[in-house]
Amino acid sequence: MPTTPKSDAFATWLQDVGPVVEMALAEELKRIDKSAMSEALHQALHYSLLGPGKRVRPALCLLACEAHGGRREQALAAGVALEAVHAYSLVHDDLPCMDDDALRRGRPTVHVAFDEASAVLVGDALQAFAFQVLSEQGQTPNALAQVARLAQAAGANGMVGGQALDMEAEGEIVTLQAVLALHRGKTGALLEASLELGALAAGVPPQTAQAWQDFGHAVGLLFQATDDLLDATASSEVLGKTAGKDHAVGKATLAAVLGLDGLSELIAAEVRRAESALSALELPSSPAQEALAALPSFLACRTR
Ligand code: IPE
Ligand code: IPE
Ligand code: MG
Ligand code: MG
Ligand code: MG
Repeated sequence: MPTTPKSDAFATWLQDVGPVVEMALAEELKRIDKSAMSEALHQALHYSLLGPGKRVRPALCLLACEAHGGRREQALAAGVALEAVHAYSLVHDDLPCMDDDALRRGRPTVHVAFDEASAVLVGDALQAFAFQVLSEQGQTPNALAQVARLAQAAGANGMVGGQALDMEAEGEIVTLQAVLALHRGKTGALLEASLELGALAAGVPPQTAQAWQDFGHAVGLLFQATDDLLDATASSEVLGKTAGKDHAVGKATLAAVLGLDGLSELIAAEVRRAESALSALELPSSPAQEALAALPSFLACRTR
């Protein structure tokens, strides 16, 4: 699908906030005392957290905060925490006992560049780091609710739960419903939480922040639907990770259960579902609202 002017507003947002997020990641990492840890672990932490990722989760978090009239700085700690949990999930996802991947973000994966023990430990450290950053932030609204929401999204009923379903389904014949459930866990949970954490950081009460759920669900599904599509259609050079792996190892993906035409239809339908879920939120018009409106088509058109 070609990019459209409509998808540009989110691309512009990503370009705007990318450097802000990068700086915050590097700054927060300085909390970890280098002198009191293994040099290899220190290097692996920087390698995995500061590597060239797209920073979609922090960008969504900052965007939801601004859409509610907050300042992006209010959501930065949450953005860093989300990116740290995401980075840890990638390091563990690539391990030989999981997806066994050697390429990530255009570079050797952590267990290849360092070793397996370092990859396990850096994931553990990144998860603890995420909750340290989130719980030690200053006077931000709903600080405890932010911690609770991230814990829920990262854990057994969220990302980790989805990863478990993904591993169990490998090589099995699965239904569309089963793939949708595992995708919502492994990928959707953190993306849904990114939006809600942004709303919480803006001072929206926890009950009200839950109104983001339908939009977040559609965004999460769109994100993993295009991840599945790109694995089947793009090159490793462009993706920065090994293309064609899902089919080769029998992963339970939307491409496997629907075929590429069916998957394209699902993506188009999900764009419409996301757009109407966003309208239902009745956000006041603002540049942030415009970037959110552009998000579904941006995700449907993404090439990496
Ligand atoms: C990859 O996420 C893992 C999935 C959840 C599909 P991203 O595509 O956001 O990876 P980076 O952070 O840009 O490398
Ligand atoms: C990974 O899904 C989701 C998480 C890391 C939690 P994938 O296994 O499809 O992600 P890629 O394709 O390796 O980035
Ligand atoms: Mg995986
Ligand atoms: Mg993987
Ligand atoms: Mg994938």
